[in-house]
Amino acid sequence: MASPPVLLGIETSCDDTAAAVLDGTTVRANVVSSQHEVHADYGGVVPELASRNHERHIGPVVQRALDEANLVPSDLDGVAVTYGPGLPGALLVGLSFAKAFAYACGCPLLGVNHLEGHAYSAHIDGHGPPEPYLCLIVSGGHTQLVHVKRPGTYTVIGQTRDDAAGEAFDKVAQMLSLGYPGGPAVDRLAQQGDAAFHDFPRSSFEDLSFSFSGLKTSVLYFLRDVPDQERDDFIATHRADLCASFQQAVVDVLVDAVHRAARATDVEHVAVVGGVSANSGLRTAIQTLGADEGLHIHLPDHAFCTDNAAMIATVARQRWPAASPETLDINPRLALA
Ligand code: KG4
Ligand code: ZN
Repeated sequence: MASPPVLLGIETSCDDTAAAVLDGTTVRANVVSSQHEVHADYGGVVPELASRNHERHIGPVVQRALDEANLVPSDLDGVAVTYGPGLPGALLVGLSFAKAFAYACGCPLLGVNHLEGHAYSAHIDGHGPPEPYLCLIVSGGHTQLVHVKRPGTYTVIGQTRDDAAGEAFDKVAQMLSLGYPGGPAVDRLAQQGDAAFHDFPRSSFEDLSFSFSGLKTSVLYFLRDVPDQERDDFIATHRADLCASFQQAVVDVLVDAVHRAARATDVEHVAVVGGVSANSGLRTAIQTLGADEGLHIHLPDHAFCTDNAAMIATVARQRWPAASPETLDINPRLALA
């Protein structure tokens, strides 16, 4: 039997420059160079700055991953890279680097969809959910419910009509002066706050779609209604309560949709992945749903919730060795498929 492949993963779709080495199902290195400080002043990712910083960091990040794995390029069997969706300029940096690297190493190049990467983040240690399963992808750019019937076969059964859940976390964090990205800060404060402080609206749609822009606006209006001269004090006093109330609304919406989708698809396994799956409130609530409804819940380790390259290499491992390698003229693909 052929030995499991040693794969280099590369991910540059947004503001994290990431490289990982996967040896079979073992993650031998998982390096993420975050650009959060670069974008913090702008309250969100500035695409041109993201591309320039990927250019600066991609070489050292890949080198660090190889060093941590104690490997040299000729030890690699393949290079897996995110081709989309994401910021076109940012994707181009990773793709160009991966093409050149694969060519120089003489090994195949595999293109991976970023969302498929997130879906496989629950499989990184080799113990992911068996198909068929339901996958909730909740990140800064996407909120999607996907029915995974067979390996590599995805049916999107619900998605956001406007903002992604992570985007709502980031915008609300900005209103509360919590910096960027806001999700982790809101999560931390929510643990000390009163979720019953204010009943923010929960949107629910029969077709399993989501909407978070109304919730975001309702936080904005709630703060706007506080008299100008009292607002700063009000926020300082109730920041944790506001975080807890907002987070509870997001969690309720997501868990309710997973509940209905699990019933509709009759699955026994549910994975929740993407940056927002790191949220402690969501993790607890989804485990409770699992216990109540007899569903097996699969959550990635914290290191693999937000963008990383181990998830990209994991998709390539899953396809190995039947994978048809990319040619060197592969370009960013911005559509979901
Ligand atoms: O998956 P990811 O790294 O990038 C995208 O593909 O978008 O997700 C980043 C998003 C950000 O919006 C960030 O605020 C959110 O995930 N996030 C969280 C937490 N950690 C990261 N949201 C809520 N709670 C967290 N603990
Ligand atoms: Zn992502």
